[in-house]
Amino acid sequence: MKLKIAVLSGDGIGPEIVLQALKATKAVCSKFGHELIYEEALVGAVAIDAVGNPYPEETHALCMESDAVLFGAIGSPKYDNDPSAKIRPEQGLLAMRKKLGLYANIRPVTTFPSLIHKSPLRADLVEGADFMCIRELTGGIYFGRPQGRSEDGATAYDTCVYSIEEIERIVRLAYSYAMKRRKKLTIVDKANVLCTSRLWRQVSQRLEKEYPEVETEYMFVDNAAMQIIQWPKRFDVMVTENMFGDILTDEASVITGSLGMLPSASIGIHTSVFEPIHGSYPQAAGKNIANPLATILSAALMFEYAFGLMEEGKLIRDAVNASMDANVVTEDIAELGKAYKTSEVGDWIVDYINKK
Ligand code: IPM
Ligand code: MN
Repeated sequence: MKLKIAVLSGDGIGPEIVLQALKATKAVCSKFGHELIYEEALVGAVAIDAVGNPYPEETHALCMESDAVLFGAIGSPKYDNDPSAKIRPEQGLLAMRKKLGLYANIRPVTTFPSLIHKSPLRADLVEGADFMCIRELTGGIYFGRPQGRSEDGATAYDTCVYSIEEIERIVRLAYSYAMKRRKKLTIVDKANVLCTSRLWRQVSQRLEKEYPEVETEYMFVDNAAMQIIQWPKRFDVMVTENMFGDILTDEASVITGSLGMLPSASIGIHTSVFEPIHGSYPQAAGKNIANPLATILSAALMFEYAFGLMEEGKLIRDAVNASMDANVVTEDIAELGKAYKTSEVGDWIVDYINKK
């Protein structure tokens, strides 16, 4: 098979971690006889510095003509510390999501037996937790307009907007995943306060009847934040709006032991994007210490979701599990023994793939 991918490394640790994922992707392609064609493009702060636009037209054109996008991270302290900057790296990520129509962000939360002791939660609570958070990605308060400052600068506002169509397509998608899993769907909202959440609930209550095999539950987001910590095993598929999903998945990721472990797939109308859920970790940039596993696991999701190549995806997952069993891991999850460098973890995984 011919795989054409766009490689968008972005900022901070992006280039280092994407390089490892790309190495693993190449190794899997040569093992299974696939032809890999890839091209790199600019996004984020590096794109602002180079061409003044965090998601340049050429980058978008490349994404549109590729079969999948492998993405690193976005964000830079230069902009985080300057709230008055008009052009911001994050706008690049949001523009990409919007222009590619990526309305669903799928974030699987799974635990790794060798990492359980790193979880801030008790092992008996975490062991076997396995759920999927489906985050709406192109609507809500991230994109609603108007957004801005009053003329005198004394007030600022964002607007949360959702249409019936947007809610229906994401909730249907969530039901389709629930049908393939343990048939339980938790719909997270804040319907006791927000009008958009009440529309979510109204639309969901109509759709619920079409999926009688699935057990549907509704949960307020504050309660969901608590339940993820208190009883993560109760969840199977969770669906929620954009900002709630952003917050809940960072929370969910650390119960697995490290934020550096969770991959994601963004799917929708055009080319799908595969990226770790963590950010650009600027403090570690260029030091060769960042955990590349979330990005390598995102490459596994890419094989599975974008190309339907399940065996290829599984080989990457096996390699990641084996590296953890062998304690070939970066400092965030290394225990007492030696902490490996980003590139060493990548090399070990490539070696495992080659030898299989
Ligand atoms: C994420 C990130 C982004 C988001 C930022 C970088 C804009 O936190 O992908 O979760 O909020 O969506
Ligand atoms: Mn986030």
